[in-house]
Amino acid sequence: MDKIRNIKGTKDILPNDIFLWQKLESKIHNFIKNFGYQEIRTPAFEESILFKRGVGEDTDIVNKEMYSWQDQGGLNLTLKPELTAPVVRAYIQHELGRSNPLNKMYYIDSLFRRERPQKGRQRQFNQFGVEVFGSNFPEQDAEVIIIAYNFLKSIGLKELILEINTIGSQSIRKEYKNVLQKLLSTYKKDFSEIDRQRLDNNPLRLFDSKDPKCREIVNDKAPTIYDYISTDDKEHFESVLSILNELQIPYVHNQQLVRGLDYYTRTTFEIKSNYLGAQDAICGGGRYDGLVEQLGGTPTPAVGFAAGMERIILLLEQDEKIDCRSLDVFIILMGSQTIPIGMKIADDIRSNTNLSVITETLQRSMRAQMREANRLKAQYCIIIGTDEVNAKHVTIKNMLDGIQNNISIQEIVNFFSQLK
Ligand code: HAM
Repeated sequence: MDKIRNIKGTKDILPNDIFLWQKLESKIHNFIKNFGYQEIRTPAFEESILFKRGVGEDTDIVNKEMYSWQDQGGLNLTLKPELTAPVVRAYIQHELGRSNPLNKMYYIDSLFRRERPQKGRQRQFNQFGVEVFGSNFPEQDAEVIIIAYNFLKSIGLKELILEINTIGSQSIRKEYKNVLQKLLSTYKKDFSEIDRQRLDNNPLRLFDSKDPKCREIVNDKAPTIYDYISTDDKEHFESVLSILNELQIPYVHNQQLVRGLDYYTRTTFEIKSNYLGAQDAICGGGRYDGLVEQLGGTPTPAVGFAAGMERIILLLEQDEKIDCRSLDVFIILMGSQTIPIGMKIADDIRSNTNLSVITETLQRSMRAQMREANRLKAQYCIIIGTDEVNAKHVTIKNMLDGIQNNISIQEIVNFFSQLK
């Protein structure tokens, strides 16, 4: 019979590779909680209309990448391709703005986009990110950027490139789109079918075009949105930059950074790495002051970012200094009499310390058990044979320096509690 395999663009994370993921996840929780953010978890699927209205009908995500279906009850559903729209939905539905003028949330979650799989690009992938509701002040944009940049730095990623831009408020968007349409319609014949549609429906998306011809035309002929934004928008942007300057966070002002989703207003930013290849964006985000209202809530300013965890793991794997030691104690058991005693000792150590403990459950020879302890990179072995049980003493071997101690069974927990 044919073996069933995973779907293209998805990946199993096997036990040998999980260490980095768990370490990354725990660092994300600790780092972001220190900024006073609370975790939010939303369902894996939502009504399709949420993404159509929230992310935008003319975006690549909604146009060609969503996993959507109609369920048996006739509901149109979509596996979430991003998390901003679901978090906004939850914010409105549960009236979070009522009890608190400022809501700061973060998430770690799986997303689904039917993109062409390649290094750093999957059809199911993981993001962590933050969304903040309630403040339209530039220090809130700066705080979000500081979290993203400083977190990536704190886990050892080097040569990060922060690109930042402002695309102004929604009110100037219409005028700018008209200008773009007028200017670029002369070149419509040179555009691909999809870029022609973009020109008609949402010309801002032309800045995301992958077609070299279109890119060249846009680079040469299109004015950037920065030339059209208001004095207020410029002042907001300058204030964000001045905070980044104070914190010595380096950035590049990329006037073409409009981002591929429709909800952004004012600040947009991305953090990239040269070590990733074609899919070089680790993180993207920005302000989206109109989205809450657009999805039926009371007007509420908001800003956030999301970072791709597969891309972060790719970068961490390039760092050879990763310490994969994961087991503290392996208990070697020799003879059936030793099994209950060994399992009781393991239980006592686990309950009274923070250490990981494994006991032998395959009744292997002493040599085979020692080999297993080495394979698991155990830091200590406790050796228990029939003689040890009778004498109520065991041998504890430090696997790093080979030093052995003979210790009474009663003293074992004490021994391990005193380790730093
Ligand atoms: P995004 O730019 O679509 O933004 O995604 C953010 C990050 O997720 C990307 O920079 C990338 O690292 C990662 N990513 C995206 N697609 C894939 C994929 N197919 N495979 C692997 N990684 C991927 C958003 O999703 C916005 N919701 C960000 C945001 C939050 N803006 C405001 N708040």
